[in-house]
Amino acid sequence: MALRKLVAGNWKMNGSLASLVELDLILAAAQAHPSVDVAVCPPFTLIAPAVARVPALAVGAQDCHGQSKGAHTGCVSTAMLVEVGARLVIVGHSERRADQHETDAEVQAKAAAAISAGMVAIVCVGETEADRDAGRAMAVVESQLDGSIPRDGTGATLVVAYEPVWAIGTGRTPSTGDVADMHAAIRARLAGLIGGEGARVRILYGGSVKPDNARELLAVADVDGALVGGASLTAAQFVPIIEGAVAASG
Ligand code: PGA
Repeated sequence: MALRKLVAGNWKMNGSLASLVELDLILAAAQAHPSVDVAVCPPFTLIAPAVARVPALAVGAQDCHGQSKGAHTGCVSTAMLVEVGARLVIVGHSERRADQHETDAEVQAKAAAAISAGMVAIVCVGETEADRDAGRAMAVVESQLDGSIPRDGTGATLVVAYEPVWAIGTGRTPSTGDVADMHAAIRARLAGLIGGEGARVRILYGGSVKPDNARELLAVADVDGALVGGASLTAAQFVPIIEGAVAASG
């Protein structure tokens, strides 16, 4: 079953009020190509101004807390995100799993909190280069899925992003065959975890998606979109990736 593709930008700790001008052309591309979904996830401080500037564009966050409120200095709840217009949230990105030592259980709690707040949770998984070299890439990703996927997730509320850690920000990508194998394994695991809804959950590929490789990666079976870091920061790079998703959907 071909699912509607989602192209989501992850600005990470980049951008400023001035860079929100990029969103004008990104929204224009999203509106010109209604056959795909487009979203941008800027840093927390830019969410409200982004929503104010382009209310028709899906804007998301890059993290949230698993609890609704409380004594958690520096954290942001899903209710806070919803209040300022965020519709999605990335959880369990490998940079947070590494830098903030986030566990699968914490990622699962964050995803569950996002879903109960009415948001779409984008749960990230992916192996390190050492995992792949040791032949355990699939086992690592399956274990992350087992620990991180909220069992009430549906095709409407849950998205999985497969991002090999060694492909993020490096300009390297797996072969399309390796992407196909991993996405098929993720699809099968989702069926085991959430049943029939697993067939409706979009599985994004992430890691060095660029204008020149987007169409090929997005045409791979069970690749239902892309999570884009560096190339989402400018419309000049991000719009051709949206167009690649459209072409791959055709
Ligand atoms: P990249 O990042 O596109 O810059 O490799 C992807 C991501 O980390 O989501």
